[in-house]
Amino acid sequence: MDIAKIGTVGVVGAGTMGNGIAQVFAQAGLAVRVHDVADGALERARRAIDRSLAKLVEKGKLQAADRDAVLGRLTFATDLDALKDSDYLVEAIAEDAEVKRALFRHLDRLLRPEVIIASNTSSISITLLGACTSRPDRVLGMHFMNPVPLMTLVELIRGQATSAESMAAATELARKLGKTPVEASDYPGFIANRILMPMINEAIYALMEGVGSAEAIDTVMKLGMNHPMGPLTLADFIGLDVCLAILEVLHDGLGDPKYRPCPLLRRLVAAGQLGRKTGQGFYAY
Ligand code: CAA
Repeated sequence: MDIAKIGTVGVVGAGTMGNGIAQVFAQAGLAVRVHDVADGALERARRAIDRSLAKLVEKGKLQAADRDAVLGRLTFATDLDALKDSDYLVEAIAEDAEVKRALFRHLDRLLRPEVIIASNTSSISITLLGACTSRPDRVLGMHFMNPVPLMTLVELIRGQATSAESMAAATELARKLGKTPVEASDYPGFIANRILMPMINEAIYALMEGVGSAEAIDTVMKLGMNHPMGPLTLADFIGLDVCLAILEVLHDGLGDPKYRPCPLLRRLVAAGQLGRKTGQGFYAY
């Protein structure tokens, strides 16, 4: 597939990841149509992109004139049909396998047969998503990291039936966004979360068992290992519900008790203390 022919990208889901993904495609010069079922989510996405672009201008990473051009390339729609002419699609809705599968069936009917459908899933099987379409060779994982405009990694996941041509197109596209693509096979958690989540889970066990305070655990990892954020701060940033869901996928998919989610993580999620987004997680915001 010739990526020079990709002029319009559809992004489904306007949450934190969806709006970051839409922004980086628009910054790369592509027209982007963003869909979300909720009007409010689209409005929040528009504001988040606006703030992020303003920050990039302030830091000298983007020209002020380019900012308006980027904004001009973005359109928002609550009607999924508005994305039907997309030349490439990225799905970034909630991490629910059944909801994603229903969406993939719909997208498969909506989009031209040659269009690649990429999922930003952090751990759901790409093979499973591909299997409910008539184009499993053109379904792949394109996993961005939060905050998308700043993080340079894109994990590309090859499902059981994903073709080499589709992977090559996604690789080229990721480079066009200024990102570094890394390929992973379709096993639970791929590479990023297979390694990140057990570390976060262990930090939560260490907190639960009183090995150290949240501040002590985070300081050890920040200053001792040069991580930009300690694991508990990072868990709050990602969302504790998201961390729990990924750990469940690792635990179910790999069957090894080492992936069992820490009871303290379950308790915080049950209490609705999901991290930064709710104002309370391991820390208060
Ligand atoms: N757009 C533009 N600018 C942004 C931004 C965005 N979306 N988000 C943050 N910034 C800006 C901040 O406003 C800040 O600007 P000022 O310096 O003017 O205040 C600047 O970037 C630096 O941010 P901070 O001062 O808050 O702190 P920092 O130096 O620690 O950088 C960070 C922030 C890049 C997020 C850094 O802490 C970091 O790299 N953290 C780790 C992030 C990480 O691990 N992400 C992966 C999570 S896992 C995932 O996403 C996948 C999954 O499946 C779970």
